[in-house]
Amino acid sequence: MPTTLTWLGHGTWLIATGGHNVLVDPFLDDSPTAPIKAADVKADYILVSHGHFDHVADAVKIAQRTGATVVSNFEICEWLGKQGVKKTEPMNLGGAIDLPFGRVKLTIAHHSSVLPDGASGGNPSGFLLTLPEGKVYLACDTGLFYDMKLIGEEGLALAVLPIGDRFTMGPDDSLRAAKLLAAKRVVASHYGTWPPIAQDAAAWAKRVEAESFSKVVLLEPGGKITL
Ligand code: NI
Ligand code: MN
Repeated sequence: MPTTLTWLGHGTWLIATGGHNVLVDPFLDDSPTAPIKAADVKADYILVSHGHFDHVADAVKIAQRTGATVVSNFEICEWLGKQGVKKTEPMNLGGAIDLPFGRVKLTIAHHSSVLPDGASGGNPSGFLLTLPEGKVYLACDTGLFYDMKLIGEEGLALAVLPIGDRFTMGPDDSLRAAKLLAAKRVVASHYGTWPPIAQDAAAWAKRVEAESFSKVVLLEPGGKITL
């Protein structure tokens, strides 16, 4: 079975690869655009990019139901452990670990990371995943940064970029990010969930295809990409 990435709305992705289900930033039960509920999602691993509610909201209940291992920064792993999550893989920026589904590197993100109860969530991150078909970069919540060029040098099959603006990059900077990353394909994330981050993704896609090396895949929540 080829690797697939399913957009579960907002910044939530489910990656199915080599028989493993890798859930990224689970925000389902309170998301107006999520196509499924936390009680119905599969997960062997849960990747959490930072401490904000729209990224950690359902992590504890899904980890408890499925027994999934949570991969995140050290501070968030400690916090999740206190909430009853049994298995974590703590990391920090620039570090990578090998897991049964592939390699996970924590990349920088320009954002913040306070947890829902006010605890420090360490530094926010993105993820660079090495999967059987190639490398996938999930920028997660971030502004534009020039070091995306270094991430692009790794050779990316796919980049998942926020376009919502206000809390993350908007369409203009996501276009610049696409140029720095030079991934074969890019897909938009973290938009359309609520009116303050509504965007015209089709207009963004046209600009990216005209001005960068990348092809764009546009999804509706529930839609998937085959790597
Ligand atoms: Ni955030
Ligand atoms: Mn967010």
